[in-house]
Amino acid sequence: MITREHCAALDAADPLAHCRARFDLPPDTIYLDGNSLGAMPANVPARIRRALEQEWAHGLIRSWNDADWYPAPQRTGNRIATLIGAGRDEVIVADSTSVNLFKVLVAATRMRPGRPVILAERTNFPTDVYVADSVAEMTGRELRCVDPADVLGAIDETVAIVSLTHVNYKSGWCYDMAQVTRRAREAGALIVWDLCHSAGAMPVRLNDCGVDFAVGCGYKYLNGGPGAPAFVFVASRHLAQVRQPLTGWHGHARPFAFTHDYEPHPGIDRMLTGTAPQLGVIALESALEAFDGVDLDVLRAKSVALGNLFIDLADQQLAGLGCRLASPRDPRERGSQVSLAHEEGYAIMQALIARNVIGDFRAPDILRFGFAPLYVRYVDIWDTIAALEDIVRTGAWNTEAFKTRKSVT
Ligand SMILES: Cc1ncc(COP(=O)(O)O)c(C=O)c1O
Repeated sequence: MITREHCAALDAADPLAHCRARFDLPPDTIYLDGNSLGAMPANVPARIRRALEQEWAHGLIRSWNDADWYPAPQRTGNRIATLIGAGRDEVIVADSTSVNLFKVLVAATRMRPGRPVILAERTNFPTDVYVADSVAEMTGRELRCVDPADVLGAIDETVAIVSLTHVNYKSGWCYDMAQVTRRAREAGALIVWDLCHSAGAMPVRLNDCGVDFAVGCGYKYLNGGPGAPAFVFVASRHLAQVRQPLTGWHGHARPFAFTHDYEPHPGIDRMLTGTAPQLGVIALESALEAFDGVDLDVLRAKSVALGNLFIDLADQQLAGLGCRLASPRDPRERGSQVSLAHEEGYAIMQALIARNVIGDFRAPDILRFGFAPLYVRYVDIWDTIAALEDIVRTGAWNTEAFKTRKSVT
């Protein structure tokens, strides 16, 4: 029998417990939605205030040079590189994940002429499939979507690109990146990983695995804020050949030469298009300080322990109440979230949120709970399951207010 005292003891022994103070979290709120919008690091407002009140208001345009605004996408990319197993100058911050995916898929497809297939998976996040579909149409290829279990078998010599998401947004199911990347390379295909649900939640080893391209967002486990700019990784061995389609002036070798002809930057800057959303980049850059001194293996160990605790408590407290585990039990196959399925999932999640326990809902019946190891506590897991048990047992979810769908779920 797991008790709340046991969870409190786990918190007392948690080597990452001190990191929670790096975030400005509302009191009396349990936040299990860092896989959708990360919590705000406490240092960000002061940095943004300085950017607004000094650098913009008084520095004006001089701040592109004097406040080092211009190289912020590169600096921030290098910080992210340390979290995803990339080298210096292989990662840059730009645009959104969807836009970066478009740039990378077109660039990769151009590097594999004569191969007719872009391979993706059916359960991927919709934007990944929509973008791949459009790229296939534009480049005269076929988009082939298969079930995750069939991906390895579907990689053959016809495949130009394999485009997958490392951790599935609904179930939290995690690919074996090393195995799939190896298979793609054996077949001569290029691989693109979407790291939206793994960057900042677990160690990612892009270069150890031999990955070609990756993209990911800044607003989930990296805590960059709503609509934070995304990042893009290109393995250094490909940089000289990569020709991405959105050839804006910031991707030029000499943007301020203002030449008529496009000449791509020799390095990762060629993945840029236009002017960075500077306040967003600054927020993301300062938010990443929350990872200072954090050992990613320790981070992963806590994420696994939080997930295991959630599943064990769900088994203990929710049996017979209509909740089904919708994530892998084996932590080696799981990212940093656990999902439960319940046919009244939407209303149940609204009832939980009304009690200041914040997760989210994904249609048709998934309750998602994300565990950002820098700020989620073991007692939060206990309290969440206790609230969930009460809501389901008493039918407290069964009101018109909780059943009425809002536009963002
Ligand atoms: C796996 C995955 N890829 C892409 C996206 C969308 O990213 P963006 O809105 O930055 O284009 C999301 C958003 O949740 C996601 O979960």
